Amino acid sequence: MSEPLPMRFVLSAPDLAGLPPSRAEVAVIGRSNVGKSSLLNALARRRDLAKTSGKPGKTRLLNLFETDGGTLVDLPGFGYAKVAATERRAWQQRMEHYLLEREPLVLTLLLVDGEVGPTALDRDMLGWLRHAEVPFQVVATKHDKVKASRRDRRKRDLASGCGLDQREVVWVSADKGVGIDRLRGLVRDALAG
Ligand code: GTP
Ligand code: MG
Repeated sequence: MSEPLPMRFVLSAPDLAGLPPSRAEVAVIGRSNVGKSSLLNALARRRDLAKTSGKPGKTRLLNLFETDGGTLVDLPGFGYAKVAATERRAWQQRMEHYLLEREPLVLTLLLVDGEVGPTALDRDMLGWLRHAEVPFQVVATKHDKVKASRRDRRKRDLASGCGLDQREVVWVSADKGVGIDRLRGLVRDALAG
């Protein structure tokens, strides 16, 4: 097992303009409730560093965490249906602005729900990332929620739905620790790059 990533909360900001300088940055994006904050906690092996919730839409600001060699950013989830369309569009724009303009950004982790993904929204986001040439890594979450008998099939379907080879997708469970070592390695390498 690899060492947890040391993580210290730095600040929350509504948008790019409020962010301090950073050496290198890895961002975590994905639909509301996909498990972004839980994953950050798992990487740090901490319980409640990033606030998680059963209710979607918990993270509404960009939350920055300092780690070895750089910064991790927990972004608000996209596509949360119960938020007014205008507010949703505003979040989307802030996220896109961050992804396009944030100079130290070296890698974006796009989290996709392992049980149900990729959804149409996920595929839109993937298309946008590819078009914008933002370096990304697809991470499938909640591995523990997929029945063992369905896993092989689910892994194939999720990867092909994303237009990727199975080996290009990292599967994780924040609850059970699956894939967390591999992802820590990817984050460390990206920040050290
Ligand atoms: P927003 O901040 O609303 O965008 O959500 P988020 O993507 O940060 O999701 P969060 O980490 O708050 O998790 C949402 C729900 O999914 C919570 O109830 C978590 O306990 C649950 N969850 C997250 N990761 C896992 C996992 O690996 N396995 C299981 N079974 N549940 C998980
Ligand atoms: Mg969150």
